[in-house]
Amino acid sequence: MVGIFTLVTGLRGSSGFGSASTAEEVTKAVDASNITAIVTGGASGIGAETVRVLALRGAHVIIATRNLKAAEEAKKMILDSNSNAHVDAMELDLSSFKSVRTFADNFIAKNLPLNLLINNAGVMFCPFRLSEDGVEMQFATNHLGHFLLTNLLLDKMKMTAKDTGIEGRIVNLSSIAHVHPYPEGIRFDGINDESRYSSRLAYGQSKLANNLHVKELSRRLKNEGANITVNSVHPGLIMTNLMRHSAFFMRIFQIFTFLFWKNVPQGAATTCYAALHPSLKGVSNKYFVDCNEMKTSAFARDQTMAEKLWDFSEDLVRSSAKSN
Ligand SMILES: NC(=O)c1ccc[n+]([C@@H]2O[C@H](COP(=O)([O-])OP(=O)(O)OC[C@H]3O[C@@H](n4cnc5c(N)ncnc54)[C@H](OP(=O)(O)O)[C@@H]3O)[C@@H](O)[C@H]2O)c1
Repeated sequence: MVGIFTLVTGLRGSSGFGSASTAEEVTKAVDASNITAIVTGGASGIGAETVRVLALRGAHVIIATRNLKAAEEAKKMILDSNSNAHVDAMELDLSSFKSVRTFADNFIAKNLPLNLLINNAGVMFCPFRLSEDGVEMQFATNHLGHFLLTNLLLDKMKMTAKDTGIEGRIVNLSSIAHVHPYPEGIRFDGINDESRYSSRLAYGQSKLANNLHVKELSRRLKNEGANITVNSVHPGLIMTNLMRHSAFFMRIFQIFTFLFWKNVPQGAATTCYAALHPSLKGVSNKYFVDCNEMKTSAFARDQTMAEKLWDFSEDLVRSSAKSN
């Protein structure tokens, strides 16, 4: 088990890794040269380091990004240190159902396999705003965009797993913040209710949704007998662009909590562990912190809420503009 003690000391858990482990370290012996991966938000922060390390292990990695220029810069940096890296960039705005659908169509048209989907992109603590489809922005970006993307790519992943015999893996970047959603968990009765909006609780809600998505999707895949696992991770506390809406507060907070923070290579470790580590073969519906399994909140373990969120999300992605 992990906790504050192991976080601060870097003490390793039963996986053999801990909070001080880096993405390179946890994938050291892994050959990913037969893997094709998509990393959303792979042009910066934890995602960019994830792309770099997956490519270092031989994977063909597609950066799914709303900022193609930043992705090209990230790709150039990776190639500067690893000329064999196989990295591409494709445009994706997760806050737009149209963009998600276009991305999926474009990816499928490439006729590539897909072994690994890392749902990494995210926004945090933004002021209230509706997406172009009329859904609160943190829920739309962090959960709904990834929900739709995953569904659109699922047949491709199933086919790849069947054809190659290689287990497909889906990794959702959740957060410890999933334990602080609205009091009712997911605000089904007012997802767009600005009068009751809290940027902090809406972020927690979206990260809870990431975990509930894992729960229901893994159940469905298991029932189908699909050779695909789905897990979620909390990467740790890492100073990235994610803090843009709370930069001043976070800098002050960091002064008092500096022992709890990780650097980016450490921040990408748990994602890369869940994505590639051989010890997780067949492991699904789990949540990892510092590369070790951890229990999620009671809401995140609620099967009824997971199913309700699935239906709610399907309804939302079906309609292009809904508000309440
Ligand atoms: N950093 C932490 O302490 C921490 C803690 C817990 C969980 N997490 C989670 O880890 C993940 C990665 O965060 P990070 O810290 O690496 O932050 P980051 O550097 O800001 O990376 C997030 C990425 O998501 C992209 N993104 C945001 N909105 C998007 C959209 N609508 N469509 C496509 N891409 C979009 C961003 O693109 P732009 O550059 O264009 O904005 C950026 O590349 C997030 O899901 C976050 O919730 C982070």
